[in-house]
Amino acid sequence: MAILALFSNKGGVGKTTAAVNLAYLAAAGGMRTLLCDLDPQGATTYIYRVEAKLLPDARGLSGTPKQIRQSIKPTGYANLDLLPADLSHRHLERFFREEKHAKQRLQEALAPLAATYELIVLDSPPNIGIVAENIFNAADRLLAPIVPSTLSAESYGQLLAFLDERGYNATSALAFFSMVEKRKTLHQETMKAVRTTYGNVLTTTVPYRSVIERMGQERQPLPVFAARSDAASAYGMLWQEVRRRLFAMG
Ligand SMILES: Nc1ncnc2c1ncn2[C@@H]1O[C@H](COP(=O)(O)OP(=O)(O)OP(=O)(O)O)[C@@H](O)[C@H]1O
Ligand SMILES: [Mg+2]
Repeated sequence: MAILALFSNKGGVGKTTAAVNLAYLAAAGGMRTLLCDLDPQGATTYIYRVEAKLLPDARGLSGTPKQIRQSIKPTGYANLDLLPADLSHRHLERFFREEKHAKQRLQEALAPLAATYELIVLDSPPNIGIVAENIFNAADRLLAPIVPSTLSAESYGQLLAFLDERGYNATSALAFFSMVEKRKTLHQETMKAVRTTYGNVLTTTVPYRSVIERMGQERQPLPVFAARSDAASAYGMLWQEVRRRLFAMG
């Protein structure tokens, strides 16, 4: 089992959009996949039309393995299940902090699911704290969307520095450019500069497209309602690239 976490300390960069589509594409390709919505806002859960609720007493994800397993819902798509967001996720920081192994709770919670799933995709809220450190410990790969504007690139640098400082494996982090506007000189220049600075930026770029924003209304992954769009094929290529890195297939 491999765990892929969409992560960025910057908000609104395309984490949820990527988590929703990459998990769908993995499952559509035959991989038994669990999408895990760690954001109390529950955008991923909403798009998949699942109720944002864990079992009572699951205390977010700090519940027992049985409570977590029983909170998993089918999405209606083959091979794809969802562990929904829950309002109690607002208190995850505190719940985790109160537990032993405060930074390994997520890893411990997900480990028993290895028998059931080949891939777990985590959609993360945009902040660095105990929840983020749980994600860093649990994930085999972090995948950070970077909007090619200076600020977003800067936060990626901050993330790598943080990983390094705290002794996490910064080389497990990958990035891709999200919401790319090809005709903007600033975007072109930033992408070039970021690629020169960091070695782990994927080749695939996701363009800025209004069809992507429609996911919130359609409440379906992009390949379901806009299979022929260039945006859907960008996520297709992104998944192929991520899959190779995640499972070290060359
Ligand atoms: N490539 C794109 N083109 C156009 N709009 C996009 C693109 N990617 C994402 N969006 C839109 O931008 C908004 C933010 O995207 P998303 O929710 O995926 O970001 P996020 O990083 O998960 O945000 P948060 O940090 O709030 O969880 C959404 O309305 C989404 O539909
Ligand atoms: Mg999000």
